[in-house]
Amino acid sequence: MTSKTAAQAHVGPAFNPHVAALPTYNAGLPVAVAREVSGHEFIARLASNENPYGCSPKVMAALASSAFEPWRYADPAARDLRAAIGKYLGIDPALIVCGNGSEEMIAAISRAFLTPGGLAVTVVPSFGLHEIEPLAVGAKVIKVPMTEDLTFDIPALEDALAQKPQVFFISTPSNPVGVTLDLAALERLAAASGESCLFVLDEAYREFTAPGFPDGLEVLRRLNVPHVILRTFSKAYGLAGLRVGYAACSSPEFARVINAAKTPFNVNAAAQLGAIAALEDDAWMKDAVGRINAERERVRKILDGMGVFMAPSQTNFLFMDCKGDSTECAQFMLKEGVILKGWREAGYERFIRVTIGAKEENEKFIGALKKWLAR
Ligand SMILES: Cc1ncc(COP(=O)(O)O)c(C=O)c1O
Repeated sequence: MTSKTAAQAHVGPAFNPHVAALPTYNAGLPVAVAREVSGHEFIARLASNENPYGCSPKVMAALASSAFEPWRYADPAARDLRAAIGKYLGIDPALIVCGNGSEEMIAAISRAFLTPGGLAVTVVPSFGLHEIEPLAVGAKVIKVPMTEDLTFDIPALEDALAQKPQVFFISTPSNPVGVTLDLAALERLAAASGESCLFVLDEAYREFTAPGFPDGLEVLRRLNVPHVILRTFSKAYGLAGLRVGYAACSSPEFARVINAAKTPFNVNAAAQLGAIAALEDDAWMKDAVGRINAERERVRKILDGMGVFMAPSQTNFLFMDCKGDSTECAQFMLKEGVILKGWREAGYERFIRVTIGAKEENEKFIGALKKWLAR
């Protein structure tokens, strides 16, 4: 039953129609489900862009220390964490808001800047919440397709931004595609976004990028564009389960209103301690990223040799044409013990996104993909 049908069949208090009509977020399946469906004990968990190497031992030590007091409410303003992030970025902590994952910041930004009938611009294919959260507050969303060869369509984005949205969400590197905006493209989009729009630059995968990746914070500050940069501890730092990310805002007033739009005790005690410890262990993160990127290139070469069409990726995942229906492909893979994402957005139903996991997970994926392509 779709949510629309459920809303129509519903008897009792009326739903918020914007929420009742939301598309479902396409989340990765749990390992237990994959074991049951496949009968395999070893599952390649490659749907959610998690870090296959875990997290820094310093995070585990912080959580085992006496500083972790689960019986206390954590600081609702996450002062220590914001101070650590401010130092790391070289900006005033008053510009930072921490979230229960950066996804919470996408919701808070939508609540803070959009009203029913308002307008947001984003890209298709993209991270689902860049569309879902604006829709949840009753805004309209213009989704600008990428080009056929899977790059950002800058002129089309400029046209959409000329329609004067209140918010512009874009991820670079792109989830799900993996490609990045170069400096010239970022500057063009910043100019097109202008003074009346909030430019939300989602850099969830920034740590995986190659040298030359533009410094979004520096660019948007220099061009004096109202903006928020989103970052997360879920990917390169390996803290997806702790739920912590942040918004770095161009003005303290933006931070104040985004702060008002979040729940008060949103970042729990473990997440605050863990994120501080993770930031202190840059060496662990860089080592993990180096191994993941090397493994990504190894997998890419093999897939290239198999004739698979893929976008170039500066992330911990690959986006590829599966030469068939992506939902069917994901089902097939699941039976083979591989969890990945079949893309469902219109125009991209032949694409799958696979996370770069540990070597044995990637080998399991490659073996299953060979079977799928030979079916
Ligand atoms: C582009 C992008 N932004 C934000 C998020 C949210 O991450 P989290 O809420 O775990 O910080 C993700 C997660 O996959 C993502 O891919």
